[in-house]
Amino acid sequence: MKIAIIGTGYVGLTTAVVLAYLNHDVAAVDKDESKLNLLHEGKSPIHEPGMQTLLDEVWHTIRFTPSVAEVVPEAELILIAVGTPPKKNGEADTRHVEQAAREVAQVCHPNRHYTLVVKSTVPIGTNRRVAEVVENVFSARGMQGNVSVASNPEFLQEGLALQGAFYPDRIVIGANCDDAVDALRRLYQPILEQTFDSPSSLPRPAAYHLPPMMTTDANSAEMIKYAANTFLALKISFINEIAGLCENVGADVTEVARGIGLDSRIGPQFLRAGLGWGGSCYPKDTTALLGVAAQSGYEMPITEAARTVNFRQRERIVEKLMLACEVHASKERVSTTASPLQGKTIGILGLAFKPNTDDIREAPALDIIRQLVEEGAHVRAHDPIAMPNARHALGEIPIHFTEDVYQLSYNADALVLVTEWELYHRLALRKLAKQMKTPILIDGRNVYSPQEASAAGFHYIGIGRK
Ligand code: UGA
Repeated sequence: MKIAIIGTGYVGLTTAVVLAYLNHDVAAVDKDESKLNLLHEGKSPIHEPGMQTLLDEVWHTIRFTPSVAEVVPEAELILIAVGTPPKKNGEADTRHVEQAAREVAQVCHPNRHYTLVVKSTVPIGTNRRVAEVVENVFSARGMQGNVSVASNPEFLQEGLALQGAFYPDRIVIGANCDDAVDALRRLYQPILEQTFDSPSSLPRPAAYHLPPMMTTDANSAEMIKYAANTFLALKISFINEIAGLCENVGADVTEVARGIGLDSRIGPQFLRAGLGWGGSCYPKDTTALLGVAAQSGYEMPITEAARTVNFRQRERIVEKLMLACEVHASKERVSTTASPLQGKTIGILGLAFKPNTDDIREAPALDIIRQLVEEGAHVRAHDPIAMPNARHALGEIPIHFTEDVYQLSYNADALVLVTEWELYHRLALRKLAKQMKTPILIDGRNVYSPQEASAAGFHYIGIGRK
């Protein structure tokens, strides 16, 4: 099928590359010149495992262009995958989605049929609004258009984007007409039936079952996207709330998560207690959902509480660090009224909001660093790939970034593990502890066992553990 994709962010680029691999004829539109320059050279503008390898394979078949007019008229299916950043009041800004729809409608042939699909995460009612925008442009052009609008929310995770696109749990289509559903069924047929040869770098998971394609109305499809993200966010917040209580009563949250996760109604996923969620999705989508609820005069206390618990984790970890530094200071008989972190050197392990990405949007590390600097601490930080983005985001805040993870601990007062990169799972703990002034390890992702870290000489503090 001839496809035009508007937007080459995480969703747009992943979709473009995967559909091209499935032999669709793909054109991708983006107005960002720097992104397009990279794409014209065959380079991925996003860091995503496997992306560059797959792009190398299909790059020559994809047309990258800044011009909607160049590719949309001949396309059969047009996917909108532009950003919906939060407005000042937290609501999702759908301006780019509507603008894309407007530009598409301006260049559609009067006597051809198109399916216009919204993949961006959008507030409930946006598909209806997009259909109106298209209608308005058509009437201004004095023509009767033939465009079916459909919602097709995306559920891919950063760091696992290609895996999620080739082997999804489900495909959700929200449309009020059969021809849009048929077009999307044809688009996704190789995925629905798994008839393609898997890329060698992305083998089909052994226990993978054919994904169902669910069709519903557009409002419900839009709501499914928000409800899915909010549910996952609150599952994580729930285990983090339990973690806090575990600390008070002497239980271990990793054991509790294992025990409840064995119940098939609960399931083991998204029960990792720690510093909670960041990224471009849960923080933004939970706020946007609350905005939609407020507009409709409805309260959502569970969603509000999930947010409160999530952001409290970032403060609690600094409190834990302060307490640990106080304990060590009192051992050294140092008495002062200043913050226990004043003048201390703290090493931060991990800046990205999660491993396998250089994305630092709403990353816990940034909030933690800001708090530490406010308390008068000297901060050193390491991340395998997110340091340039963090440096940019933190601006003037004085931080010493280091390429060598072991330099973090040299004469340091404490280490805080914020992002559970694979590299941090196999650190030479003994070496790290030995180099430190006071060997405190605050493990914000429960990567190490308390026994292992203590045996290596650390004063170990995890999340929700004895
Ligand atoms: C999330 C959803 O998982 C995707 O299905 C959805 O498509 C995407 O948002 C989106 O709306 O675009 P993503 O934000 O990339 O994907 O990352 P997740 O893997 O869901 O992790 C989000 C955050 O939760 C991370 O900060 C991670 O560290 C944290 N997390 C995750 C936990 O703290 N504990 C867990 O058990 C799992």
